[in-house]
Amino acid sequence: MRIALGCDHGGFPLKQRIVSVIQAAGHTVVNCGTDSDCSVDYPDYALRVGQVIVAGEADRGILLCGSGVGISVAANKIPGIRAGVCHDIYSAHQGVEHDDMNVLCLGARIIGEEVAVELVRAYINAQFTREERHLRRLNKVLQIERDAVAGTLFR
Ligand code: RB5
Repeated sequence: MRIALGCDHGGFPLKQRIVSVIQAAGHTVVNCGTDSDCSVDYPDYALRVGQVIVAGEADRGILLCGSGVGISVAANKIPGIRAGVCHDIYSAHQGVEHDDMNVLCLGARIIGEEVAVELVRAYINAQFTREERHLRRLNKVLQIERDAVAGTLFR
């Protein structure tokens, strides 16, 4: 898989370790910055990762910020992105298996490096089950997105 990786300065301390984990698992990192601990704005990196995935240049994404929250909120504004903050192993794989989550968001100020490594492994090893009930629910989420894009959500 090609995994788009983006972070702000709050997530940057985790970045290199996550790159190593992705590569060691045989996957490719698509670097979406930031590349230093200088203060930046997390929506810019959520947008880059989202654009790369929607353009088909990456299969999934990982976003890192201080808490994981801001960058997930921003990523979920992008049609086609289903981002979740997962700080427990169950959610990191179940989010993919049931919800087709395509961006994992982590808070580098919340979790330790070894927990982050386990979360990334759980996420990248998971696959969407395509079971009927999960497809039905995913299609409802996608319909909300289509209505929002079309401006018909509140009619
Ligand atoms: C940056 O200081 C911090 O606000 C950001 O990384 C993130 O935690 C926002 O949710």
